[in-house]
Amino acid sequence: MNSRITILDLLQAKRDGRAIAVVSCYDYTTARQVGQAGVDMIIVGDSAAQLMFGFDSTLPATMDIMVALTAAVRRGAPDVYLVADMPFLSYQISAGEAIRNAGRFLVESGAQMVKIEAAGAHLDTIRAVSDSGIAVMAHIGIRPQRISTVGRFRAEATTAEIAMQLIDLARQMVNAGAAALLIEGAAAEVSQIITERSEIPVISCGSGPACDGQVLVAPDILGLTDGRLPKFSKTYAELGPRSIEAFRAYAEEVKARRFPDDEHSYHMKPGELQRLTDLLGRTH
Ligand code: KIV
Repeated sequence: MNSRITILDLLQAKRDGRAIAVVSCYDYTTARQVGQAGVDMIIVGDSAAQLMFGFDSTLPATMDIMVALTAAVRRGAPDVYLVADMPFLSYQISAGEAIRNAGRFLVESGAQMVKIEAAGAHLDTIRAVSDSGIAVMAHIGIRPQRISTVGRFRAEATTAEIAMQLIDLARQMVNAGAAALLIEGAAAEVSQIITERSEIPVISCGSGPACDGQVLVAPDILGLTDGRLPKFSKTYAELGPRSIEAFRAYAEEVKARRFPDDEHSYHMKPGELQRLTDLLGRTH
């Protein structure tokens, strides 16, 4: 418990200019590996709806799903700073519901912070959740939960006017009590300005190198994602083809009756097979 990373460590990292490594992942087994790899923060993102459940957007993620996934990740990575993503409709309806749902992540999952995809309309919610004692990461720039209104996503803040709006929105989020910012898919120059002007940690998801930290989703890092990655993402190991090879080798051994072999089978204690044969002989 003593070695668990806290918000103070993240603030110190920002002050020292040490970059914060963040991974979005969703399960116990992956979290165990991430926790041993020097990663500072895990965000249990609602991209789980796509990458764990195969939906075509993040919208079907529910509170119950996200709470269960976040708790599993906490069990796998007890010391990593843990952020839970508030799913669609968990914070838009009222500040009261937002506080109740955010609180579930702290109480039921062991999360230390919640992430809210935030526009100007959510400033009161950010303030209410933060005032209730729950640290909030305001997610600005591309907000995947808006897919229904925007149709598809483009890089954000690539013109001076939109950049001004994003810089101002970041300032308002900080004033409303956000404890961290996540900027998705915004021009690197603009993220740099926001990072320099903010005293809280600013995490980039495809928003350039100048932020205080970087996040990628675990399946992209491991080469497990189907299809083309976004421009900003990067694969560090091609585990997808290697996994398929492993499953193929297993299936072939099963079909050829080479698995399980003696090494992978249990056996009766010495003499017990003979006793069983005798018992069977007596009953038939
Ligand atoms: O859903 C997700 O994985 C995210 C990442 C940007 C952290 O929001």
